[in-house]
Amino acid sequence: MSQHFDVIVIGGGPGGYIAAIRSSQLGQKTACIDAWSNDQGGPALGGTCTNVGCIPSKALLQSSEHFEQAGHHFAEHGIQIKGLSLDLPTLLSRKDQVVKQNNDGIQYLFKKNKVTFFHGKGSFDSKVEGGYAIKVSSEKSQEVITAKHIIIATGSKARALPQAPFDEENVLSNDGALKIKAVPKKLVLIGSGVIGLEMGSVWRRLGSEVTILEGLPQFLGAVDEQIAKEAHKLFLKQGLKIELGVKVGDVKVGAKKVSINYTNAKGEAQSIDADKLIVSIGRIPQTDGLGLEHVGLAVDERGAIAVNDDCATTLPNVWAIGDVVRGPMLAHKAEEEGVAVAERIAGQHAHVNFNTVPWVIYTHPEIAWVGQTEQQLKSSGRGYKSGTFPFLANGRARALGDTTGMVKFLADDKTDEILGVHIIGPSASELIAEAVVAMEFRASSEDIARICHAHPSLSEATKEAALAVDKRTLNF
Ligand code: FAD
Ligand code: NAI
Repeated sequence: MSQHFDVIVIGGGPGGYIAAIRSSQLGQKTACIDAWSNDQGGPALGGTCTNVGCIPSKALLQSSEHFEQAGHHFAEHGIQIKGLSLDLPTLLSRKDQVVKQNNDGIQYLFKKNKVTFFHGKGSFDSKVEGGYAIKVSSEKSQEVITAKHIIIATGSKARALPQAPFDEENVLSNDGALKIKAVPKKLVLIGSGVIGLEMGSVWRRLGSEVTILEGLPQFLGAVDEQIAKEAHKLFLKQGLKIELGVKVGDVKVGAKKVSINYTNAKGEAQSIDADKLIVSIGRIPQTDGLGLEHVGLAVDERGAIAVNDDCATTLPNVWAIGDVVRGPMLAHKAEEEGVAVAERIAGQHAHVNFNTVPWVIYTHPEIAWVGQTEQQLKSSGRGYKSGTFPFLANGRARALGDTTGMVKFLADDKTDEILGVHIIGPSASELIAEAVVAMEFRASSEDIARICHAHPSLSEATKEAALAVDKRTLNF
């Protein structure tokens, strides 16, 4: 007899593991199947985010920022360091430890919440009476389990350049980019999106000469233009070389060198050599080997599983969440969908508000935003007011010695409802939470302007930007 569950979740990334925990909390007998293995062949729960995404990249960003601060900024505080050097193996193994703590933490959470975990690849076997049969295959065994509800949370994988497939030795995806064993002298990245800027920053701080080749003519097109312009200026000043509007041609991969031919924005043929090439041109939904054909589930033209607003697929009781469906490829978006689907299965009426999903780029300074950009408001014709406040005028930022950037508010010109908040500056990733709460409660900029913020704190820049909407800043 195969084991029967109320809910089987395929994929143990932030979407899947959170969906499984919430499902179990709601009294459903729940299983989660995840295929990711660590170097010893054991389970490594947490998906892309924990293993080769959010967590390891933030560990490297932190370590490399410490190195940058010690090398270039401690002296401003009167701290002199002689003989500063980089121990890359320790830096990388610290990152691996952080990943492992998170992997183990999720296994603990599964035990605590009574989620049955299967380490292996899950695939649809067939439709059965009252649900679906899912095959779980690992190197050691194969078994079939059944459930009424299936949640697909199989995530995404890096998109390769057709002319330069990943070998993770010279041509690297996000995976290889997180474990380069010696700092490359020359590093080229294709794509100046989120991964390009975060990983480009890590390796530049550690000593690489970094060039980023971007296909689009504008920098960070999805970001508020004023913020993107400021970011571009700051990144160039830091030493990142960013070429916009390029067309990448042939890529020749030698034993130790990669040569990239491209046409620049003026249409001129160019060539650049690199010790390593990172390709960060977006990600594609991961549905390989899921056996969708066995139950008649199709993918759309982007390879994503088609779902409605509630994450329901075209099959009854089959749901899909996270990177494998439409919408931003973000861990917290996957988590919110996971919770919502688990609650819907349990008969509750959950809702995910896509207008208040925050974005963060963890460069230095950090870039974070929620809601609409100024260019979006202009093109939609909606009347708006804006207010900005620079960190240069914030006491805490001065004390920290970190005064780059600004907070920008966009509010409806009649009702004053906050429509978007955009931050470039210190701790933007944390500051944005206040804006998310405000927008979730449909607050006005006046509401934020009238709330008492601790002094001295970076959050006072948020309050002052809200005051700036009404042209009444107090400290600028
Ligand atoms: P994934 O995390 O991709 O998890 C899917 C899981 O399913 C994997 O473990 C996979 O092995 C497993 N799986 C796939 N097929 C099967 C199968 N057939 N059977 C069993 N298991 C299967 N987002 C943020 O919000 N913040 C960040 O700072 C951030 N940084 C990132 C940095 C990098 C370098 C990258 C690449 C991504 C980053 N992201 C970040 C994006 C984030 O990682 C994803 O949005 C998130 O992981 C998506 O979660 P998910 O659960 O949908 O899928
Ligand atoms: P991305 O979509 O952020 O950026 C890809 C960039 O590559 C774009 O600027 C695009 O114009 C460019 N591009 C595409 N094809 C190209 C080509 N052939 N030649 C030159 N340029 C080309 O994708 P990225 O950076 O790969 O990251 C994937 C996703 O992972 C992100 O969109 C995001 O959802 C997630 N992520 C989130 C992070 C965060 O939240 N801090 C960090 C890293 C990744």
